[in-house]
Amino acid sequence: MDELTIAMPKGRIFEEAYELLVKAGYDLPKELDDSRKLIVEAPNERFRFILAKPMDVPVYVEHGVADIGIAGKDVMLELDRSVHELLDLGISRCYIATAGLPNTEMNPVTPRIATKYPKIASRFYRGKGEQVEIIELNGSIELAPMIGLADRIVDIVSTGKTLKENGLVEYEQIVDITSRLIANPVSYRLKQQRIRELVENLRKQAKA
Ligand code: PRP
Repeated sequence: MDELTIAMPKGRIFEEAYELLVKAGYDLPKELDDSRKLIVEAPNERFRFILAKPMDVPVYVEHGVADIGIAGKDVMLELDRSVHELLDLGISRCYIATAGLPNTEMNPVTPRIATKYPKIASRFYRGKGEQVEIIELNGSIELAPMIGLADRIVDIVSTGKTLKENGLVEYEQIVDITSRLIANPVSYRLKQQRIRELVENLRKQAKA
């Protein structure tokens, strides 16, 4: 049986992805969850997990150091990497939206948009025919309108709690997001049987 290297995101998606794999019948070590190790083996399944930052998962998969990965559609849209998208896992459901302070117009000259998704944001405003300045941040995006750095943000909304607690409101919904199973194209050819089996097992558990 071929060993499969799987890049998994740490953080938000992790728990749901872990649960899905266990439900699909895979015997995973507890330490995948518990420790600070970045590479964890699941010897009973011949799986090897690389625990990566969500934005880095498609990078590992594209370079073939991971055969497959679990990545949010947000990351896929932003990075546009050469990987196969095999399955919508239906987990970590959320959406990308624009938000800002309530009852405010955007600066009529060049509005400033803060985001960690510069490509998704640029595409969205270009599609509306609006010229904007994109300010790229790495996190806590909600701060930007609160402290006058930007007119709007383009960011993930999950429960809506972060917006609410910071006095921001949503303006436009851009795209729905779920996590996807992705594969390196060469691995997919060489380890087709194992990967297909994994896809089928996960498909049965994936949330509709
Ligand atoms: C994400 C996102 C929002 C928040 C939305 O941030 O950027 O800030 O979650 O979730 P909610 O609608 O349930 O409140 P994350 O926690 O991933 O961290 P970040 O601020 O570092 O991007």
